[in-house]
Amino acid sequence: MSSTHWRPTSGFSTSIWGGTMLELEGVQAGYPDQPVLHGVDLTVRTGERLAVLGRNGVGKTTLVRAVVGAIPVTAGKIRLDGERIDRLAAHKRVGAGIAHVPQGRGIFGELSILENLKVSACAVHGAGWRREIQQILEEFPMLAERAGHAARSLSGGQQQVLAIARALLTRPRLLVLDEPTEGIQPSILDTMADLLVDVNVARGVTLVVVEQKIDFAARLAERAVVVDRGRIHCAIALADLQGSRELQRELLAV
Ligand SMILES: Nc1ncnc2c1ncn2[C@@H]1O[C@H](COP(=O)(O)OP(=O)(O)O)[C@@H](O)[C@H]1O
Ligand SMILES: [Mg+2]
Repeated sequence: MSSTHWRPTSGFSTSIWGGTMLELEGVQAGYPDQPVLHGVDLTVRTGERLAVLGRNGVGKTTLVRAVVGAIPVTAGKIRLDGERIDRLAAHKRVGAGIAHVPQGRGIFGELSILENLKVSACAVHGAGWRREIQQILEEFPMLAERAGHAARSLSGGQQQVLAIARALLTRPRLLVLDEPTEGIQPSILDTMADLLVDVNVARGVTLVVVEQKIDFAARLAERAVVVDRGRIHCAIALADLQGSRELQRELLAV
């Protein structure tokens, strides 16, 4: 694979990869009546931007939930910086440096933007939450301008920015996003990708992004893996995937 295949197209510098940050080994997980993951092996390096692709229903969200602790891991191991985390409660994984932007964003539409941020900041920073929120509002002026408005009054893209800002309040080292482009306008996809590249490069946050939109994934990620039937099916160069309708149909059914 030529290195140009996984360089982002956005003009940002490629992040500097370190050692292993997140490691999944034979991970099995699912729901009481439905096993979904049948032995996932995956390594994410410190500082990288990884896209996780795959058709609907293959287990991408289940994989994300297993990593963040939203569902139990029934077999296998998950390590963060070499330490087992698969038995840790979800809030302890936040404390260990993992933040999650769930599919559908998970923001509270009836609460104001500020209140949405408080939910996250208070949980992590205790008394220091005001300063943390002030800092994040300085970085996201769009949110500052609308701080008192109900979150549901934001556009899909703006809600996604809120979900990302809320996740960043926990000062993660690893940010896991599940289909961040769902329900946002095509015209702001590039901006969204560039924002996430900036989060990676400027803050040094490692990114794992579950995505269905190939051009978005190619602009954002340096590397991609494809999930199929509850396992990591293969790694793929995003440029190869972009250039081949046949591969897209085979691996993603799009
Ligand atoms: N809460 C749930 N309870 C039972 N089955 C579920 C639940 N959520 C998802 N599933 C099933 O698990 C499988 C994988 O789903 P999911 O991980 O959401 O796939 P993806 O994110 O790749 O579209 C699907 O067959 C789906 O129907
Ligand atoms: Mg999903």
